[in-house]
Amino acid sequence: MTAPAASNNLHSKLPDVGTTIFTVMSALANECGALNMSQGFPDYDGPEALREALGRHAMAGDNQYAPMAGVLALREQIAAKLLRYYGIEANPDTEITVAPGATEAIYCAITACIQPGDEAIVFDPCFDSYEPAITLSGGIARHIAMSEVDFSIDWDVVESTINERTRLIIINSPHNPSGAILNDVDLRRLESLVTQQHNLYVVSDEVYEHLVFDGERHCSILQYPGLRERSFAAFSFGKTFHITGWKTGYCVAPPALTAELRKVHQFVTFVAVTPVQLALADFMAAEPDFPASLAEFYQAKRDLFCDSLKSSRFGVRPSAGTYFQLLDYSPISDELDTELAVRYTREQGIASIPISVFCEAPPAGGYLRFCFAKREEMLLKGAEILCKI
Ligand SMILES: Cc1ncc(COP(=O)(O)O)c(C=O)c1O
Repeated sequence: MTAPAASNNLHSKLPDVGTTIFTVMSALANECGALNMSQGFPDYDGPEALREALGRHAMAGDNQYAPMAGVLALREQIAAKLLRYYGIEANPDTEITVAPGATEAIYCAITACIQPGDEAIVFDPCFDSYEPAITLSGGIARHIAMSEVDFSIDWDVVESTINERTRLIIINSPHNPSGAILNDVDLRRLESLVTQQHNLYVVSDEVYEHLVFDGERHCSILQYPGLRERSFAAFSFGKTFHITGWKTGYCVAPPALTAELRKVHQFVTFVAVTPVQLALADFMAAEPDFPASLAEFYQAKRDLFCDSLKSSRFGVRPSAGTYFQLLDYSPISDELDTELAVRYTREQGIASIPISVFCEAPPAGGYLRFCFAKREEMLLKGAEILCKI
């Protein structure tokens, strides 16, 4: 008799988790030869000087483990960037940790906070990496739906959801997939809620910090003293420098929280990639204004895509931030968004992301998410297809 495959006996810790929708839709787009506006990555490269610096460091022999918290020169550049853009002081030694992607930083922050039975509040639609991290620590995700009209958060609902088991609130601004941003009023309300509790922390996913449009400015959680002392803020170089494949980001948190985050980080990955960190440090020192150019760069893409959709039947409310645009298809179809996204990929040749997969309870309206971090030709081609539907 042959022994059963080991996997048959394995009791899944994440029984409800399958392959992420990003992988599924990108694979389908490839299979169908469809225009891929689903997964969130640019179809253009990061700055040449940054890529050259990576090659230079790799060739110069900077190829062994970096310090666990990250290359010091990069942590110093991060501190300079926080000061320049937000007026925030952060100590590179005790408050800044470089991570192999914001995803890892967020995973480590959640793991550091959540004990079995603890609750973490998340807002739907919610980025797909948060809940598995909560579950793996034995915690429970409490989902609060954002407004289906403007994707704002009802803080009265948050207040009534907080109880003695609530350990963490996870926010994401600018918000993937809706593009909504949290403003000063939101963060002050959050600050007052959090500071009334003894043992409540915040993970703030700010990976799209520089992609904020129409003259608005990103409000970082780090700018609010009551939140600063209880928060882990996660950022991504992938989004800021058009290098999602380099998977490098960082976490900013006060020393006591950073110490706990690093305990987890050192056994999840230990370090981020050395030559990547050195290249980023060089580039940030030479081009500190680069992030400030992103709002205009992406707003032009958003406007091109939205303006080109004027004759379409989709509902379009221009995105306030990120490089995603939601299209409301309720005037066209009452199909499930998951079915429609597949059908449009197969039949119309355009791939998008259905947003119900990021929600515990499917939203009443119907939205598909399109990534506009694409060259002009693709944005125009995508709009042309969508206008014919
Ligand atoms: C909201 C949000 N958080 C985190 C990430 C992951 O960032 P990174 O690639 O740096 O891990 C993404 C990437 O798509 C994102 O959209």
